[in-house]
Amino acid sequence: MNFKTQPVRTVDNRAQPDWWRGAVIYQVYPRSYQDSNGDGIGDLKGIAQRLPHIASLGVDAIWISPFFKSPMKDFGYDVSDYCDVDLMFGTLADFDDLLDKAHKLGMRVMVDLVLSHTSDQHPWFQESCQDHKNAKSDWYVWAEPKPDGTPPNNWLSIFGGSAWHWDGRREQYYLHNFLTSQPDLNFHNEEVQNALLDVAKFWLKRGVDGFRLDTINFYFHDQKLRDNPPLPVKRRNATIAPRVNPYNHQDHQYDKNQPENLAFLRSLRSVMEPYGAAAVGEVGDAQYGLEILGQYTAGDDLMHMCYAFEFLANAKPTASDVETVMDRVDEVAADGWSCWAFSNHDTVRHPSRWNLSDEGLKMMTVLMMCWRGSACIYQGEELGLPEAEVAFEELQDPYGIEFWPKFKGRDGCRTPMPWETQSEFSGFGENKPWLPVSPKHMEMAVDRQEEDPDAILHHYRRAIRFRHENPALRSGTQSPMKADGGLLIFTREHEGETYFCAFNLGDDVATVAAQTGSWQSIGADLGSVQDDLTNPVTLNPWQFLIAMKPKG
Ligand code: BGC
Ligand code: MG
Repeated sequence: MNFKTQPVRTVDNRAQPDWWRGAVIYQVYPRSYQDSNGDGIGDLKGIAQRLPHIASLGVDAIWISPFFKSPMKDFGYDVSDYCDVDLMFGTLADFDDLLDKAHKLGMRVMVDLVLSHTSDQHPWFQESCQDHKNAKSDWYVWAEPKPDGTPPNNWLSIFGGSAWHWDGRREQYYLHNFLTSQPDLNFHNEEVQNALLDVAKFWLKRGVDGFRLDTINFYFHDQKLRDNPPLPVKRRNATIAPRVNPYNHQDHQYDKNQPENLAFLRSLRSVMEPYGAAAVGEVGDAQYGLEILGQYTAGDDLMHMCYAFEFLANAKPTASDVETVMDRVDEVAADGWSCWAFSNHDTVRHPSRWNLSDEGLKMMTVLMMCWRGSACIYQGEELGLPEAEVAFEELQDPYGIEFWPKFKGRDGCRTPMPWETQSEFSGFGENKPWLPVSPKHMEMAVDRQEEDPDAILHHYRRAIRFRHENPALRSGTQSPMKADGGLLIFTREHEGETYFCAFNLGDDVATVAAQTGSWQSIGADLGSVQDDLTNPVTLNPWQFLIAMKPKG
């Protein structure tokens, strides 16, 4: 299918304020999408060149990971100027051009604001660390040592070690939830809040359609700096930090998830409102993630959606896992909206993580398009790429270097996008890229898949189109899910139309009981089993069935 044959969708956020609900969002990791100037690193001009590919998928929006000025210690998630483009990625004019081209192709653009912390190279921190009296002295979280010189409390950094780093100039510790070069901003200071709201306004005025908000539940910390209690061993999930990380040993009651955050999120929303822009806030919490998602997306004056980690876990979800998650969402976020992802720039790509066959991968994609919530697709996911192997000597990610070899870091999901099977660097760029192109990925390159109607790439296009053609899947109500062995069943409803969805996530043949009513099988081109639902229907592992009952 050629993207030119797609109906042109207009981008008018004021006229379509609910555009984000049920949207499919394509995540671009700019370092690894397309290098246009031969320096081995992807850039904004490169992304602009590849927009027709993204549009061909039929997605509603693009989320671009950070491209702001940065010393790149955490590859852009350490910002030293929120209102400028890093030279490595291009210029503000390149961004304007990319935005304009995306809009002409009917796609919205969401930029990734990393507001919780800055780089230690940010002028705000450079000033703050000088002494106790400067104008920015309270813009970061500074604290006295304990009498014995050790850090003020037991808080840990996700990237390893204490969350406190000693600074000789102030003879104080400062807080960092990630690298020591990512000092945490003090949101309890109103000047800080206002400066960050100005950052959001800057991008909104440039015409962006929304934000992906990094680590949104880390904005505030407990001002009393109380110790986090230990987390009982049986509650130690590892969804946001790898299992080997002692960050999982704490119940994060005080270093994040503070109630003051709601008022700030409200201010942020009111800045976005006049532009019809939407936000997806990333909630990183292995214990309370869905509860916080519910809190932050309730009503219509906080976040539009929150990004959930439930399906980024290591274990392949079973039917009953999906049922448990969706039940919990109904319970704690009935009024809210989630945004689901199977893969991203922080996690092992899901075909490898879950050891999926092509059939399994195809079915999971359809499931994500049928259940309630918006969806994020990570670059290369549309090709079914497995995790790339990156040798220790080639590692770039400080997180992987810290916890190697039990956790290999995030480089394996960040290698360059494979465009052409035959070119030396798979069409990513003219010169050696910053991470190696995976030989396995080259065989799965876009040009090869374009030629094969059964390829994963065409399946993603069909699945996304299926969601768009059936409004019930995009924004309809959803019945409670029912797991029966490996079988997962639910319905979606919108304006009198009902959709019946049955997916076999198990290893055995499953039987869907006969249903009353006049059901029509749909989704044949996706591989949905076409059978008469008035009789029991058998589904093999990874088979699914979608049927529709029209109005009346
Ligand atoms: C981003 C990571 C980043 C971290 C710190 C996240 O959740 O997705 O890539 O390292 O925030 O900014
Ligand atoms: Mg480049």
